[in-house]
Amino acid sequence: MIYRTFGKTNIKLSQLGFGAMRFPLVDEYDPKTINESEATRMIHNAIDNGVNYVDNAYPYHRETSESFVGRALKGGYREKIYLATKMPVWLVKSKEDSQKYFDEQLKRLQTDTIDMYLLHALNKNFWKTVQDCDMLNFLDKMLTAGKIRFAGFSFHDELPLFKEIVDAYPWTFCLIHLNYVDDHYQAGLEGLEYAHKKGLAVVVMEPLRGGKLASNVPDEVSNIIKQAGRVQTPAEFALRWVLNRPEVSCVLSGMSSLEQVKENIRFASDEHVNTLTHEEFQLYTRAKEFYRSKTKVNCTQCGYCMPCPQKIPISFILELYNDACMYDAHADSRWMYKVFIKPEFRADQCTQCKECEEKCPQKIPIAEVLEQAHDSLAS
Ligand SMILES: NC(=O)c1ccc[n+]([C@@H]2O[C@H](COP(=O)([O-])OP(=O)(O)OC[C@H]3O[C@@H](n4cnc5c(N)ncnc54)[C@H](OP(=O)(O)O)[C@@H]3O)[C@@H](O)[C@H]2O)c1
Repeated sequence: MIYRTFGKTNIKLSQLGFGAMRFPLVDEYDPKTINESEATRMIHNAIDNGVNYVDNAYPYHRETSESFVGRALKGGYREKIYLATKMPVWLVKSKEDSQKYFDEQLKRLQTDTIDMYLLHALNKNFWKTVQDCDMLNFLDKMLTAGKIRFAGFSFHDELPLFKEIVDAYPWTFCLIHLNYVDDHYQAGLEGLEYAHKKGLAVVVMEPLRGGKLASNVPDEVSNIIKQAGRVQTPAEFALRWVLNRPEVSCVLSGMSSLEQVKENIRFASDEHVNTLTHEEFQLYTRAKEFYRSKTKVNCTQCGYCMPCPQKIPISFILELYNDACMYDAHADSRWMYKVFIKPEFRADQCTQCKECEEKCPQKIPIAEVLEQAHDSLAS
């Protein structure tokens, strides 16, 4: 495992971190049903092989991930890692709420201290909540009390707000969405450079676009990857682009099988900073342009939009809608829509309550897109 410096601290983070958001499930339709024995094997394998950063958050796996990770880290594993989790900013309604959620997280994770604590998914609205509920003062208090070692934030909005937030508080680190397709999206590369110059450590999420850059890769992209002249999987091709950047302290992947853990650890055992050639960058541009031209909706299947009050499987429908265009597989997507989703849970049952839109980190106009998806998939 290769380690990188965590911003201005003298801490060394493994360049691959474990995201606790996409564990294998017992029931693939119920995110609460983490397959605990398999997921524990995955976490232990990762830590035994050098991963020392585990990223969690209050809502992951419908609020079961923190408790599961608390159990999985028993037996000495907690002490071997830097544990990160995030304040559910959208649930905080008063100054007192911050303390309430934080205490609950300590209990769930069975720990006295959170090493890296983030304000979760900051955007314009949640940044206002942070100020209204005096959360920066709360961070100060927890840092002074030794309950948090380092304060940071994760981000899902436009670049100007990102810069404003970076400058508003003495953060140690931030977490941004970055991959070779979304290079100028949200904070993007400019945000990466900005935060780095300001002395923040930068951790990256969604390096594989939630898995979309790693599996079922269209033939056009497979052919581009082959031209790089290296033997590499699509996952490696995507991770290489992020790890090429010296400003990145750690890349999180929400691995969902032991095989993926092993593959990603193997890849993270090599040095990747500044190893890409000019010719390779041109290949990334071509692959990016292909994906952009074929992506209808910028959904990464993070599942933040769920559960829908109408029980509409939003992210599955958006995936079918995207796949129809990406793989020119309209008939397959229509068939799956009809066979796997009962009429009472299809996209036309959306009541436009837009609860999902408030929670979507990618700001997708979900209600409108569901209408389009239904028109296309039910036709
Ligand atoms: N703060 C926030 O707002 C926020 C938002 C999103 C994520 N995060 C954090 O960032 C972490 C990373 O984001 P992410 O989970 O979206 O990461 P990601 O690496 O882009 O996507 C993870 C998915 O990629 C696939 N994958 C991983 N390794 C693979 C391999 N070697 N070969 C083939 N497929 C592979 C798996 O998909 P399949 O299951 O389809 O195989 C896995 O579920 C999350 O787990 C979470 O901790 C935070």
